[in-house]
Amino acid sequence: MRTYFNLTGRSALVTGAGAGIGAAVAEALAAAGAAVLVTDISGEAAAAVAERITAEGGKADSAPLDVSDRDAAVAAAAQAAGLGEGHLHIVVNNAGVTSPAMFPKLTDATFRLTFDIHVMGTFHVTQAALSHLPTDGTGRIINVTSAAGITGTLGQVNYSAAKAGIIGFTKSLARELAPRNVMVNALAPLAATPMTETIRTNEKFAANMMNRIPLKRWAEADEVAGAFVFLASDAASYITGQVLPVDGGMVM
Ligand SMILES: NC(=O)c1ccc[n+]([C@@H]2O[C@H](COP(=O)([O-])OP(=O)(O)OC[C@H]3O[C@@H](n4cnc5c(N)ncnc54)[C@H](O)[C@@H]3O)[C@@H](O)[C@H]2O)c1
Repeated sequence: MRTYFNLTGRSALVTGAGAGIGAAVAEALAAAGAAVLVTDISGEAAAAVAERITAEGGKADSAPLDVSDRDAAVAAAAQAAGLGEGHLHIVVNNAGVTSPAMFPKLTDATFRLTFDIHVMGTFHVTQAALSHLPTDGTGRIINVTSAAGITGTLGQVNYSAAKAGIIGFTKSLARELAPRNVMVNALAPLAATPMTETIRTNEKFAANMMNRIPLKRWAEADEVAGAFVFLASDAASYITGQVLPVDGGMVM
């Protein structure tokens, strides 16, 4: 019988996996059988997630990785390929920050910061992974965008521009890597994480957010992680260049 969601024998690298969605994705990929390199700008946070995975019987290792550092990305990709006997099958470009301000107050520094981490970070890690990707149809690049990059959002011109950039990156790279049988997709999640704490708890933002979510609730990070497993799996072997919102119906 054909199986779809078993990742045994595959290796994965997840960025920004010391907290929030990245940590949940690292755990979900490991639960599906993948050997996961858990990376984060905080090496300690990454190590704690990898320890949790191995304590529960999964395969994981960790490394500090600031995605704006190309050399560190090259080293991490090689380390992750070591977990997969020479191949790095699944790359999840999840690391991210926000630096909100209304447009007149946005500075070059905050604009550059969001681009360095989201766009340049995705570029560095993906290019570092390239020579390690298998060509047998199991290779996956999964980028993380946002509703902000699709519909725009107040006070986030820098973040929205970076997240829209990731969508263009995803679609163009999907075309370039299709001949190598590597699927490149993006996911636009919504979840209760440290990043969304203010908009969930500050009454100025919370009610407005709830009005925009048809399912009328926030997901926990582990609820959105299953969609990453789907895109990483054989079930997604004929899906490339797509953006999948996993957001309670906010974008439709
Ligand atoms: N939470 C949401 O509702 C939501 C919505 C849309 C998009 N996203 C996107 O999902 C991704 C994860 O968000 P989250 O909510 O889990 O955020 P989070 O703030 O909870 O976690 C982000 C992680 O990224 C790490 N990080 C920050 N800068 C880094 C860098 N330079 N290099 C490597 N790691 C770095 C942090 O240390 C942290 O562990 C981000 O790309 C975010 O933009 C989240």
